[in-house]
Amino acid sequence: MLFLQYKLKENRKKYKPLRYIIMESKFCKLDRILAPFDKKIERRLRDIKDLFVDKKMVEKLDQNMIIYEVYEMENFDINCALTLLYPGKVGREYFMTKGHYHEKEEGEIYYCIGGEGILLMRTREGEIKHIKLEKGIIAYVPPEHAHRVVNTGNEILSFLAFYSKDAGHDYETIEKEGFGAVVMEGEGKPVIKKVKG
Ligand SMILES: [Fe+2]
Repeated sequence: MLFLQYKLKENRKKYKPLRYIIMESKFCKLDRILAPFDKKIERRLRDIKDLFVDKKMVEKLDQNMIIYEVYEMENFDINCALTLLYPGKVGREYFMTKGHYHEKEEGEIYYCIGGEGILLMRTREGEIKHIKLEKGIIAYVPPEHAHRVVNTGNEILSFLAFYSKDAGHDYETIEKEGFGAVVMEGEGKPVIKKVKG
């Protein structure tokens, strides 16, 4: 008990309010603008090519092409990440993020800064849900829902995500089982199609 109280006091010393700023593609804490983020993830076409339906078309494209970038800011308990998802398609299928479940039963909040897209969700039972993203939309992803973002517009889709630091990312389940839905261009507008998986 004494130890627990001691730990709590120690932790409290680390609690510190922070201000963020987004400058061009840099995501910064205001007190350390020269070291803008804690972690950057870059996903190029070669990293996620297996996710796309049109296997022949994906091989014809530049494998080095960046599909999206994530700038992650670690805090004491809640992380915040900026994602820039580039516009484009493989055949008729729009560029998208890998998609994952959380390892723990925890949700996530998205805030769309700009662009147009679809936040796809999938329950463990295979039910597909979605929320349309555009500037100013705040979306809640419940626990136990895999989530993937698709850029259906002509410009960069940018959004912030807020999630528990220990939520954990399980990408493997989606890689093995598939997401169960794809977003394709059909008659000039995005259409969500259910597929096996
Ligand atoms: Fe997540």
